[in-house]
Amino acid sequence: MHKYVINGNRPLYGEVDISGAKNAAVAIIPAALLVDGVCRIENIPEISDVTLFFSILEDLGARVKVLNRHAIELDCHTIRSTRPSYNMARRIRASYYLVGALLGRFGEATVALPGGCNFGGVRPIDQHVKGFTAMGAEVTVESGAIHAVAREGKLRGANVYLDVVSVGATMNIMMAAVLAEGNTVIENAAKEPHIVDLANFLNSMGADIKGAGTDTIKIRGVAALSGGSYAIIPDQIEAGTYMAAVAATGGQLLIRNIIPKHMDCISAKLREMGVTIEEQDDALLVRRDGPLQRTNIKTMPYPGFPTDMQPQIATVLALAQGTSLVTESVWSSRFKYVDELKRMGAQIQVDGKVAVVEGVDHLEGAPIQACDLRAGAAMVIAALAAHGTTEITQVQYIERGYEDIIGKLRAVGADIRLVDEPDPAGTVQQAG
Ligand code: EPZ
Repeated sequence: MHKYVINGNRPLYGEVDISGAKNAAVAIIPAALLVDGVCRIENIPEISDVTLFFSILEDLGARVKVLNRHAIELDCHTIRSTRPSYNMARRIRASYYLVGALLGRFGEATVALPGGCNFGGVRPIDQHVKGFTAMGAEVTVESGAIHAVAREGKLRGANVYLDVVSVGATMNIMMAAVLAEGNTVIENAAKEPHIVDLANFLNSMGADIKGAGTDTIKIRGVAALSGGSYAIIPDQIEAGTYMAAVAATGGQLLIRNIIPKHMDCISAKLREMGVTIEEQDDALLVRRDGPLQRTNIKTMPYPGFPTDMQPQIATVLALAQGTSLVTESVWSSRFKYVDELKRMGAQIQVDGKVAVVEGVDHLEGAPIQACDLRAGAAMVIAALAAHGTTEITQVQYIERGYEDIIGKLRAVGADIRLVDEPDPAGTVQQAG
Protein backbone atom coordinates (compact mmCIF):
# COMPACT_ATOMS: atom_id res chain seq x y z
CA MET A 1 0.00 0.00 0.00
CA HIS A 2 1.17 3.49 -0.67
CA LYS A 3 -0.09 7.04 -0.93
CA TYR A 4 0.68 10.05 -3.08
CA VAL A 5 2.01 13.22 -1.50
CA ILE A 6 1.56 16.28 -3.71
CA ASN A 7 2.71 19.85 -3.17
CA GLY A 8 0.40 21.81 -5.42
CA ASN A 9 -0.06 25.22 -7.00
CA ARG A 10 2.57 24.69 -9.71
CA PRO A 11 1.81 25.09 -13.40
CA LEU A 12 2.65 22.11 -15.60
CA TYR A 13 4.98 22.52 -18.59
CA GLY A 14 6.33 19.92 -21.00
CA GLU A 15 5.32 16.82 -22.94
CA VAL A 16 3.31 13.76 -21.94
CA ASP A 17 3.17 10.52 -23.95
CA ILE A 18 -0.19 8.83 -23.72
CA SER A 19 -0.31 5.05 -23.24
CA GLY A 20 -2.53 2.48 -24.93
CA ALA A 21 -6.21 2.61 -24.03
CA LYS A 22 -7.13 0.67 -20.89
CA ASN A 23 -10.71 -0.01 -21.93
CA ALA A 24 -9.56 -1.29 -25.31
CA ALA A 25 -6.80 -3.44 -23.77
CA VAL A 26 -9.12 -5.10 -21.25
CA ALA A 27 -11.36 -6.19 -24.14
CA ILE A 28 -8.72 -7.08 -26.72
CA ILE A 29 -6.67 -9.26 -24.35
CA PRO A 30 -9.60 -11.59 -23.50
CA ALA A 31 -10.70 -11.43 -27.17
CA ALA A 32 -7.42 -13.19 -27.96
CA LEU A 33 -9.11 -16.30 -26.51
CA LEU A 34 -11.04 -16.44 -29.79
CA VAL A 35 -7.87 -16.72 -31.83
CA ASP A 36 -6.47 -20.10 -32.79
CA GLY A 37 -2.92 -18.88 -33.29
CA VAL A 38 -0.39 -16.45 -31.90
CA CYS A 39 -1.41 -12.79 -31.48
CA ARG A 40 1.15 -10.11 -30.99
CA ILE A 41 -0.43 -7.11 -29.24
CA GLU A 42 1.42 -3.79 -28.98
CA ASN A 43 0.84 -0.47 -27.20
CA ILE A 44 -0.50 -2.27 -24.15
CA PRO A 45 -0.70 0.04 -21.12
CA GLU A 46 1.41 -1.06 -18.15
CA ILE A 47 -1.37 -0.99 -15.56
CA SER A 48 -2.59 -3.41 -12.92
CA ASP A 49 -5.89 -4.29 -14.69
CA VAL A 50 -3.92 -5.58 -17.66
CA THR A 51 -1.45 -7.54 -15.53
CA LEU A 52 -4.39 -9.24 -13.85
CA PHE A 53 -5.80 -10.26 -17.23
CA PHE A 54 -2.47 -11.85 -18.22
CA SER A 55 -2.61 -13.93 -15.04
CA ILE A 56 -6.20 -14.99 -15.75
CA LEU A 57 -5.31 -16.12 -19.28
CA GLU A 58 -2.16 -17.93 -18.14
CA ASP A 59 -4.17 -19.73 -15.51
CA LEU A 60 -6.59 -20.90 -18.24
CA GLY A 61 -3.65 -22.42 -20.12
CA ALA A 62 -2.67 -19.62 -22.51
CA ARG A 63 0.99 -18.91 -23.23
CA VAL A 64 1.77 -15.30 -22.43
CA LYS A 65 5.15 -14.09 -23.63
CA VAL A 66 6.12 -10.57 -22.60
CA LEU A 67 8.12 -8.99 -25.45
CA ASN A 68 8.67 -5.65 -23.73
CA ARG A 69 6.83 -3.30 -21.33
CA HIS A 70 4.13 -2.63 -23.93
CA ALA A 71 4.02 -5.70 -26.17
CA ILE A 72 3.10 -9.33 -25.65
CA GLU A 73 2.52 -12.48 -27.59
CA LEU A 74 -0.55 -14.50 -26.62
CA ASP A 75 -1.06 -18.06 -27.71
CA CYS A 76 -4.53 -19.26 -26.77
CA HIS A 77 -4.65 -22.53 -28.66
CA THR A 78 -3.43 -24.26 -25.49
CA ILE A 79 -6.48 -23.22 -23.40
CA ARG A 80 -7.58 -26.12 -21.18
CA SER A 81 -10.36 -24.58 -19.10
CA THR A 82 -13.45 -22.43 -19.60
CA ARG A 83 -13.58 -21.49 -15.90
CA PRO A 84 -11.32 -18.54 -15.12
CA SER A 85 -10.12 -18.31 -11.53
CA TYR A 86 -13.03 -17.02 -9.45
CA ASN A 87 -10.84 -14.92 -7.19
CA MET A 88 -9.03 -13.22 -10.04
CA ALA A 89 -12.07 -12.66 -12.27
CA ARG A 90 -14.20 -11.11 -9.51
CA ARG A 91 -11.62 -8.36 -9.03
CA ILE A 92 -12.06 -6.82 -12.42
CA ARG A 93 -15.18 -5.49 -14.10
CA ALA A 94 -13.99 -6.34 -17.58
CA SER A 95 -13.86 -10.06 -16.68
CA TYR A 96 -17.34 -10.18 -18.23
CA TYR A 97 -15.55 -10.24 -21.61
CA LEU A 98 -14.29 -13.71 -20.69
CA VAL A 99 -17.90 -14.92 -21.02
CA GLY A 100 -18.32 -13.68 -24.60
CA ALA A 101 -14.89 -14.90 -25.69
CA LEU A 102 -15.01 -18.37 -24.06
CA LEU A 103 -18.65 -18.94 -25.05
CA GLY A 104 -17.89 -17.90 -28.62
CA ARG A 105 -14.86 -20.16 -28.93
CA PHE A 106 -15.71 -23.19 -26.77
CA GLY A 107 -19.50 -23.00 -26.40
CA GLU A 108 -19.37 -22.54 -22.63
CA ALA A 109 -18.02 -20.33 -19.87
CA THR A 110 -18.26 -20.06 -16.08
CA VAL A 111 -17.00 -16.68 -14.86
CA ALA A 112 -17.30 -14.92 -11.49
CA LEU A 113 -19.80 -12.06 -11.51
CA PRO A 114 -17.76 -8.94 -12.17
CA GLY A 115 -16.86 -6.42 -9.48
CA GLY A 116 -15.97 -2.93 -10.62
CA CYS A 117 -16.02 0.68 -9.52
CA ASN A 118 -19.06 1.25 -7.35
CA PHE A 119 -21.11 4.07 -8.84
CA GLY A 120 -23.79 3.88 -6.19
CA GLY A 121 -25.74 0.87 -7.35
CA VAL A 122 -25.68 -2.45 -9.15
CA ARG A 123 -23.94 -2.48 -12.53
CA PRO A 124 -26.27 -4.74 -14.51
CA ILE A 125 -25.27 -7.12 -17.31
CA ASP A 126 -28.79 -7.90 -18.56
CA GLN A 127 -27.98 -6.62 -22.06
CA HIS A 128 -24.98 -8.97 -22.33
CA VAL A 129 -27.22 -11.85 -21.27
CA LYS A 130 -29.92 -10.77 -23.73
CA GLY A 131 -27.39 -11.01 -26.56
CA PHE A 132 -26.00 -14.40 -25.55
CA THR A 133 -29.50 -15.79 -25.10
CA ALA A 134 -30.59 -14.56 -28.54
CA MET A 135 -27.60 -16.43 -29.96
CA GLY A 136 -28.76 -19.70 -28.43
CA ALA A 137 -27.00 -19.74 -25.06
CA GLU A 138 -28.52 -20.68 -21.75
CA VAL A 139 -27.29 -18.27 -19.11
CA THR A 140 -27.67 -18.83 -15.38
CA VAL A 141 -26.16 -17.25 -12.30
CA GLU A 142 -25.14 -19.65 -9.56
CA SER A 143 -22.84 -19.32 -6.55
CA GLY A 144 -21.67 -15.86 -7.62
CA ALA A 145 -20.73 -16.92 -11.15
CA ILE A 146 -22.27 -16.57 -14.60
CA HIS A 147 -22.62 -19.90 -16.35
CA ALA A 148 -23.28 -19.72 -20.08
CA VAL A 149 -23.58 -22.67 -22.41
CA ALA A 150 -24.49 -22.82 -26.11
CA ARG A 151 -27.52 -25.14 -26.33
CA GLU A 152 -26.47 -26.58 -29.69
CA GLY A 153 -22.78 -26.67 -28.74
CA LYS A 154 -22.16 -23.55 -30.84
CA LEU A 155 -23.77 -20.11 -30.96
CA ARG A 156 -25.79 -19.01 -33.97
CA GLY A 157 -26.09 -15.47 -35.31
CA ALA A 158 -29.04 -13.32 -34.18
CA ASN A 159 -30.44 -9.80 -34.26
CA VAL A 160 -29.89 -8.05 -30.94
CA TYR A 161 -31.40 -4.66 -30.13
CA LEU A 162 -29.76 -3.14 -27.05
CA ASP A 163 -32.26 -1.43 -24.74
CA VAL A 164 -29.47 0.76 -23.36
CA VAL A 165 -26.33 1.86 -25.16
CA SER A 166 -23.78 -0.35 -23.40
CA VAL A 167 -20.07 -0.47 -24.17
CA GLY A 168 -19.61 -3.81 -22.43
CA ALA A 169 -22.65 -5.50 -24.01
CA THR A 170 -21.68 -4.28 -27.50
CA MET A 171 -18.14 -5.67 -27.16
CA ASN A 172 -19.22 -8.90 -25.48
CA ILE A 173 -21.88 -9.71 -28.10
CA MET A 174 -19.37 -8.87 -30.84
CA MET A 175 -16.90 -11.35 -29.33
CA ALA A 176 -19.53 -14.07 -28.98
CA ALA A 177 -20.67 -13.53 -32.59
CA VAL A 178 -17.40 -13.68 -34.53
CA LEU A 179 -17.26 -17.51 -34.58
CA ALA A 180 -21.04 -18.09 -34.45
CA GLU A 181 -22.95 -19.84 -37.23
CA GLY A 182 -24.44 -17.13 -39.51
CA ASN A 183 -24.93 -13.38 -39.14
CA THR A 184 -25.41 -11.21 -36.06
CA VAL A 185 -26.68 -7.63 -36.07
CA ILE A 186 -26.27 -5.41 -33.00
CA GLU A 187 -28.66 -2.43 -33.09
CA ASN A 188 -28.32 0.62 -30.83
CA ALA A 189 -24.67 -0.33 -30.38
CA ALA A 190 -22.18 1.79 -28.43
CA LYS A 191 -19.74 3.78 -30.61
CA GLU A 192 -16.76 4.44 -28.34
CA PRO A 193 -13.28 4.37 -29.93
CA HIS A 194 -12.52 1.12 -28.07
CA ILE A 195 -15.50 -0.57 -29.81
CA VAL A 196 -13.90 0.24 -33.16
CA ASP A 197 -10.53 -0.89 -31.83
CA LEU A 198 -11.87 -4.29 -30.76
CA ALA A 199 -13.54 -4.74 -34.16
CA ASN A 200 -10.30 -3.79 -35.93
CA PHE A 201 -8.35 -6.26 -33.78
CA LEU A 202 -10.79 -9.09 -34.52
CA ASN A 203 -10.93 -8.22 -38.24
CA SER A 204 -7.14 -8.22 -38.39
CA MET A 205 -7.27 -11.81 -37.04
CA GLY A 206 -9.78 -12.86 -39.72
CA ALA A 207 -13.22 -11.84 -38.37
CA ASP A 208 -15.84 -10.17 -40.55
CA ILE A 209 -17.27 -7.19 -38.62
CA LYS A 210 -18.76 -4.14 -40.32
CA GLY A 211 -20.21 -0.92 -38.93
CA ALA A 212 -18.27 -0.64 -35.65
CA GLY A 213 -18.42 3.03 -34.64
CA THR A 214 -22.03 3.34 -35.88
CA ASP A 215 -25.36 2.35 -34.25
CA THR A 216 -25.53 -0.89 -36.23
CA ILE A 217 -22.78 -3.50 -36.19
CA LYS A 218 -22.99 -6.49 -38.53
CA ILE A 219 -20.95 -9.60 -37.85
CA ARG A 220 -20.70 -12.53 -40.24
CA GLY A 221 -19.54 -15.60 -38.36
CA VAL A 222 -16.30 -17.17 -39.64
CA ALA A 223 -14.91 -20.66 -39.03
CA ALA A 224 -11.75 -19.60 -37.18
CA LEU A 225 -9.50 -16.67 -36.36
CA SER A 226 -5.81 -17.01 -37.06
CA GLY A 227 -2.98 -15.07 -35.44
CA GLY A 228 -1.61 -11.67 -36.31
CA SER A 229 -0.21 -8.45 -34.98
CA TYR A 230 -2.16 -5.46 -33.63
CA ALA A 231 -1.45 -2.16 -31.83
CA ILE A 232 -4.00 -0.76 -29.36
CA ILE A 233 -5.25 2.83 -29.79
CA PRO A 234 -4.14 5.61 -27.41
CA ASP A 235 -6.16 6.19 -24.25
CA GLN A 236 -8.72 8.96 -24.75
CA ILE A 237 -9.40 9.26 -21.03
CA GLU A 238 -5.76 9.31 -19.95
CA ALA A 239 -5.17 12.11 -22.49
CA GLY A 240 -8.26 13.95 -21.27
CA THR A 241 -7.05 13.64 -17.69
CA TYR A 242 -3.74 15.39 -18.51
CA MET A 243 -5.68 18.05 -20.43
CA ALA A 244 -7.82 18.63 -17.35
CA ALA A 245 -4.69 18.71 -15.16
CA VAL A 246 -3.09 21.55 -17.15
CA ALA A 247 -6.44 23.35 -17.28
CA ALA A 248 -6.54 23.23 -13.47
CA THR A 249 -2.91 24.18 -12.80
CA GLY A 250 -2.23 26.51 -15.73
CA GLY A 251 0.83 26.07 -17.94
CA GLN A 252 1.24 24.24 -21.24
CA LEU A 253 1.37 20.54 -22.11
CA LEU A 254 1.99 18.83 -25.42
CA ILE A 255 -0.11 15.67 -25.16
CA ARG A 256 1.46 13.23 -27.61
CA ASN A 257 0.58 9.88 -29.17
CA ILE A 258 -3.16 10.48 -29.33
CA ILE A 259 -5.90 10.54 -31.95
CA PRO A 260 -7.09 14.19 -31.79
CA LYS A 261 -10.52 13.29 -33.23
CA HIS A 262 -11.21 11.12 -30.16
CA MET A 263 -10.58 14.16 -27.99
CA ASP A 264 -13.14 16.49 -29.68
CA CYS A 265 -15.82 15.99 -27.01
CA ILE A 266 -13.34 16.94 -24.27
CA SER A 267 -11.52 19.69 -26.20
CA ALA A 268 -14.85 21.44 -26.99
CA LYS A 269 -15.69 21.78 -23.29
CA LEU A 270 -12.20 22.85 -22.24
CA ARG A 271 -12.25 25.55 -24.94
CA GLU A 272 -15.55 26.85 -23.53
CA MET A 273 -13.71 27.12 -20.21
CA GLY A 274 -11.00 29.33 -21.70
CA VAL A 275 -8.34 26.70 -22.43
CA THR A 276 -6.38 27.05 -25.70
CA ILE A 277 -5.99 23.81 -27.66
CA GLU A 278 -3.99 23.49 -30.88
CA GLU A 279 -4.34 20.31 -32.87
CA GLN A 280 -1.36 18.56 -34.44
CA ASP A 281 -1.23 15.24 -36.33
CA ASP A 282 -1.08 12.98 -33.30
CA ALA A 283 -0.82 15.51 -30.48
CA LEU A 284 -2.64 18.39 -28.81
CA LEU A 285 -0.93 21.48 -27.41
CA VAL A 286 -3.00 22.52 -24.40
CA ARG A 287 -2.44 25.85 -22.67
CA ARG A 288 -4.22 27.78 -19.94
CA ASP A 289 -2.97 31.18 -18.85
CA GLY A 290 -6.16 33.17 -18.14
CA PRO A 291 -8.97 32.51 -15.66
CA LEU A 292 -11.23 29.47 -16.09
CA GLN A 293 -14.81 30.11 -17.17
CA ARG A 294 -17.90 28.22 -16.04
CA THR A 295 -19.76 25.84 -18.32
CA ASN A 296 -22.28 23.00 -18.15
CA ILE A 297 -21.40 19.36 -18.81
CA LYS A 298 -23.70 16.40 -19.47
CA THR A 299 -22.20 12.94 -19.83
CA MET A 300 -23.39 10.87 -22.80
CA PRO A 301 -22.28 7.80 -24.74
CA TYR A 302 -19.64 8.59 -27.43
CA PRO A 303 -19.41 11.00 -29.20
CA GLY A 304 -20.89 12.82 -26.19
CA PHE A 305 -18.87 13.94 -23.19
CA PRO A 306 -17.47 10.76 -21.53
CA THR A 307 -18.63 9.78 -18.06
CA ASP A 308 -15.04 8.64 -17.39
CA MET A 309 -13.97 12.32 -17.59
CA GLN A 310 -16.77 13.65 -15.38
CA PRO A 311 -14.90 13.74 -12.03
CA GLN A 312 -11.81 15.31 -13.62
CA ILE A 313 -13.74 18.05 -15.41
CA ALA A 314 -15.89 18.80 -12.36
CA THR A 315 -12.64 19.35 -10.45
CA VAL A 316 -11.52 21.91 -13.01
CA LEU A 317 -14.94 23.59 -12.84
CA ALA A 318 -14.54 23.81 -9.06
CA LEU A 319 -11.84 26.40 -9.86
CA ALA A 320 -13.76 28.28 -12.59
CA GLN A 321 -15.47 31.64 -12.31
CA GLY A 322 -19.22 31.21 -11.79
CA THR A 323 -21.61 28.30 -11.31
CA SER A 324 -21.52 25.19 -13.50
CA LEU A 325 -23.91 22.26 -13.74
CA VAL A 326 -22.50 18.76 -14.17
CA THR A 327 -25.11 16.15 -15.13
CA GLU A 328 -24.23 12.46 -14.97
CA SER A 329 -26.54 10.61 -17.33
CA VAL A 330 -24.67 7.33 -17.89
CA TRP A 331 -24.36 6.04 -14.30
CA SER A 332 -27.02 6.41 -11.63
CA SER A 333 -24.50 7.94 -9.24
CA ARG A 334 -20.90 8.92 -9.81
CA PHE A 335 -20.37 11.78 -7.38
CA LYS A 336 -18.83 10.02 -4.37
CA TYR A 337 -15.62 11.99 -4.90
CA VAL A 338 -17.39 15.29 -4.23
CA ASP A 339 -17.08 14.82 -0.45
CA GLU A 340 -13.31 14.55 -0.84
CA LEU A 341 -13.15 17.71 -2.98
CA LYS A 342 -15.18 19.54 -0.34
CA ARG A 343 -12.45 18.74 2.19
CA MET A 344 -10.20 20.84 -0.03
CA GLY A 345 -12.63 23.77 -0.07
CA ALA A 346 -14.64 23.01 -3.21
CA GLN A 347 -18.24 24.23 -3.18
CA ILE A 348 -20.33 21.54 -4.81
CA GLN A 349 -23.88 20.42 -4.07
CA VAL A 350 -25.11 17.14 -5.48
CA ASP A 351 -28.79 16.59 -6.14
CA GLY A 352 -29.36 13.19 -7.70
CA LYS A 353 -27.70 13.14 -11.10
CA VAL A 354 -26.70 16.82 -11.04
CA ALA A 355 -23.81 18.52 -9.27
CA VAL A 356 -23.98 22.28 -8.87
CA VAL A 357 -20.40 23.53 -8.83
CA GLU A 358 -19.73 27.05 -7.48
CA GLY A 359 -16.22 27.97 -8.54
CA VAL A 360 -13.80 28.97 -5.77
CA ASP A 361 -10.60 31.00 -6.00
CA HIS A 362 -8.40 28.09 -4.95
CA LEU A 363 -8.41 24.68 -3.23
CA GLU A 364 -6.42 23.86 -0.09
CA GLY A 365 -4.36 20.68 0.38
CA ALA A 366 -5.90 18.04 2.70
CA PRO A 367 -5.73 14.29 3.41
CA ILE A 368 -8.14 12.73 0.89
CA GLN A 369 -8.75 9.38 -0.72
CA ALA A 370 -9.35 7.97 -4.18
CA CYS A 371 -12.73 6.23 -4.09
CA ASP A 372 -12.46 4.79 -7.60
CA LEU A 373 -10.26 5.07 -10.69
CA ARG A 374 -11.47 8.34 -12.24
CA ALA A 375 -12.33 9.84 -8.86
CA GLY A 376 -8.70 9.15 -7.98
CA ALA A 377 -7.54 10.96 -11.11
CA ALA A 378 -9.73 13.90 -10.10
CA MET A 379 -8.08 13.93 -6.66
CA VAL A 380 -4.65 14.13 -8.28
CA ILE A 381 -5.79 17.08 -10.43
CA ALA A 382 -7.23 18.86 -7.39
CA ALA A 383 -4.02 18.29 -5.45
CA LEU A 384 -1.82 19.56 -8.30
CA ALA A 385 -3.78 22.82 -8.37
CA ALA A 386 -4.29 23.22 -4.60
CA HIS A 387 -2.31 25.45 -2.28
CA GLY A 388 -0.25 23.38 0.17
CA THR A 389 0.21 19.64 0.54
CA THR A 390 -2.31 16.91 -0.23
CA GLU A 391 -2.02 13.25 0.70
CA ILE A 392 -4.06 10.82 -1.37
CA THR A 393 -4.68 7.29 -0.10
CA GLN A 394 -6.30 4.28 -1.85
CA VAL A 395 -4.17 5.06 -4.90
CA GLN A 396 -4.29 1.44 -6.05
CA TYR A 397 -7.49 2.49 -7.84
CA ILE A 398 -5.54 5.05 -9.86
CA GLU A 399 -2.78 2.60 -10.78
CA ARG A 400 -5.35 0.28 -12.24
CA GLY A 401 -5.85 2.66 -15.15
CA TYR A 402 -2.99 5.19 -15.35
CA GLU A 403 0.45 4.03 -16.41
CA ASP A 404 3.29 5.66 -14.47
CA ILE A 405 1.21 8.66 -13.43
CA ILE A 406 3.89 9.75 -10.97
CA GLY A 407 6.70 9.64 -13.55
CA LYS A 408 4.63 11.39 -16.23
CA LEU A 409 3.59 14.20 -13.87
CA ARG A 410 7.05 14.68 -12.36
CA ALA A 411 8.47 15.03 -15.88
CA VAL A 412 6.24 18.07 -16.46
CA GLY A 413 7.08 19.80 -13.21
CA ALA A 414 4.66 18.36 -10.66
CA ASP A 415 5.86 17.88 -7.09
CA ILE A 416 4.35 14.43 -6.52
CA ARG A 417 5.86 11.46 -4.76
CA LEU A 418 4.87 8.01 -3.69
CA VAL A 419 5.15 7.12 -0.01
CA ASP A 420 4.76 3.58 1.33
CA GLU A 421 2.28 3.00 4.10
CA PRO A 422 0.90 -0.11 5.78
CA ASP A 423 -2.53 -1.43 4.77
CA PRO A 424 -4.20 -2.37 8.05
CA ALA A 425 -7.56 -3.07 6.41
CA GLY A 426 -6.21 -5.44 3.73
CA THR A 427 -8.47 -3.74 1.19
CA VAL A 428 -9.80 -5.85 -1.67
CA GLN A 429 -9.36 -4.08 -4.99
CA GLN A 430 -12.01 -4.01 -7.67
CA ALA A 431 -11.57 -2.60 -11.09
CA GLY A 432 -13.54 -0.33 -13.45
C1 EPZ B 1 -17.48 0.70 -19.63
O1 EPZ B 1 -18.20 0.10 -18.57
C2 EPZ B 1 -16.18 1.20 -19.04
N1 EPZ B 1 -15.46 0.08 -18.45
C3 EPZ B 1 -16.46 2.26 -17.99
O2 EPZ B 1 -15.21 2.83 -17.64
C4 EPZ B 1 -17.33 3.38 -18.57
O3 EPZ B 1 -17.72 4.25 -17.53
C5 EPZ B 1 -18.58 2.81 -19.24
O4 EPZ B 1 -18.21 1.78 -20.20
C6 EPZ B 1 -19.39 3.87 -19.99
O5 EPZ B 1 -18.58 4.49 -20.96
C7 EPZ B 1 -14.76 -0.73 -19.23
O6 EPZ B 1 -14.67 -0.56 -20.44
C8 EPZ B 1 -14.03 -1.83 -18.56
P1 EPZ B 1 -21.84 0.25 -19.98
P2 EPZ B 1 -19.44 -0.82 -18.88
O7 EPZ B 1 -22.27 -1.15 -20.16
O8 EPZ B 1 -19.25 -1.50 -20.18
C9 EPZ B 1 -26.25 0.35 -18.14
C10 EPZ B 1 -13.45 3.51 -16.26
O9 EPZ B 1 -13.41 4.43 -15.41
N2 EPZ B 1 -26.27 -1.10 -18.46
O10 EPZ B 1 -21.60 1.08 -21.20
O11 EPZ B 1 -19.70 -1.65 -17.70
C11 EPZ B 1 -25.30 0.67 -17.00
O12 EPZ B 1 -25.90 0.49 -15.74
C12 EPZ B 1 -14.66 2.61 -16.33
O13 EPZ B 1 -12.55 3.27 -17.06
C13 EPZ B 1 -27.44 -1.81 -18.33
O14 EPZ B 1 -28.48 -1.29 -17.91
O15 EPZ B 1 -20.56 0.29 -19.04
C14 EPZ B 1 -24.95 2.11 -17.31
O16 EPZ B 1 -25.95 2.95 -16.79
C15 EPZ B 1 -15.63 2.83 -15.21
N3 EPZ B 1 -27.42 -3.15 -18.63
C16 EPZ B 1 -24.99 2.19 -18.84
O17 EPZ B 1 -25.75 1.05 -19.26
C17 EPZ B 1 -26.31 -3.77 -19.10
O18 EPZ B 1 -26.36 -4.99 -19.39
C18 EPZ B 1 -23.63 2.14 -19.52
O19 EPZ B 1 -22.91 1.00 -19.06
C19 EPZ B 1 -25.12 -3.03 -19.25
C20 EPZ B 1 -25.13 -1.69 -18.92
